[in-house]
Amino acid sequence: MLQSESELEISRILVEWYEIYKRELPWRETRDPYIIWISEIILQQTRVVQGLEYFLRFTERFPNVASLAAAEEDEVLKYWQGLGYYSRARNLHAAAKSIMERFNGVFPENYKEVLSLKGIGEYTAAAIVSFAWNQPYPVVDGNVYRVLSRLFAADTPIDTAKGKKQFAELAGMILDRKNAGAHNQAIMELGALRCVPKNPDCKVCPLKDKCMAFASGDAQAYPVKQNKTKTRDRYFHYLYIIYKGQTWMNRRAGKDIWTGLYEFPLIETDHAMDFSGLCETQSFRDLLGDAGTLSITQGLSNVKHTLSHQILYASFYQIEIERIPESLGNYLSLSCRDIEKYAVPRLIHIYLEKLNGNL
Ligand code: ADE
Repeated sequence: MLQSESELEISRILVEWYEIYKRELPWRETRDPYIIWISEIILQQTRVVQGLEYFLRFTERFPNVASLAAAEEDEVLKYWQGLGYYSRARNLHAAAKSIMERFNGVFPENYKEVLSLKGIGEYTAAAIVSFAWNQPYPVVDGNVYRVLSRLFAADTPIDTAKGKKQFAELAGMILDRKNAGAHNQAIMELGALRCVPKNPDCKVCPLKDKCMAFASGDAQAYPVKQNKTKTRDRYFHYLYIIYKGQTWMNRRAGKDIWTGLYEFPLIETDHAMDFSGLCETQSFRDLLGDAGTLSITQGLSNVKHTLSHQILYASFYQIEIERIPESLGNYLSLSCRDIEKYAVPRLIHIYLEKLNGNL
């Protein structure tokens, strides 16, 4: 593709700015595709400051493909605990195993092969091959959408197929193909540090003279989103059941949220419900109808927990039981002291932390 001087000029300005203002981050000090991969997946999940801690812990325990592939899934999930979106950790694990089997443990260099790994989409594949080997693939993440939409005053909604295609083209157009790694880091860093979502300080932006949104004074109007995603409300009631220091948990299976993570016995209802309503449900009776006298401590109620397409409203009840009902045979029995050894969803982690501080 022939590029105009002006398009290449954008990349030169970006990279010059980046070399001066970039944050020193460990994944920028390496060309190891494994390390870059881990950092990118973590950073899809959280901000740099929090991600850094997870990255250091994760790569210390799993320093290469082989160590990750050899680990038990439960341990990988434990290292991911708190980041949310556990399918990402499961995909990392599955992809590491697949690299061992399909590529003899050597991280593939070919873009298509990288893209074929579980959990690696176009963004991650482009990040890995450009950062590790300087291959000319443009990255397009949230930061890049923002920078490009402002730079070109492009108002096609970014959450549409048409928008995705258009922004991928723009990203390719300004990519300096000889310097793709630095270019990609630079455009993302500009989005993170200067071209921020709210109140960007455009006066100090190195691209202000080329930015069409700045020229019209409405940078904050970009990017445009169509926002058609619907969210679903769910009502979770967790029962922290205790009998002489023993409790019960369940490892979530199936295709719903949090597969592979542990949780207390759960009753889900399709509308909000207080404890007396809950006691009337068939699910509650099935679970604790034969447990004798129940001694209830209200834990937390109506905790709102937002996931990408769902809002959970959760309540927690601590319940001492008089005898162990048969129904609990379907659950994993463990000592209350050992709960912390299990990978639990962030929602439950928050409850346990509050419980330890006595709520
Ligand atoms: N966000 C996504 N990828 C990143 C990277 N490599 N450095 C900093 N922030 C990022």
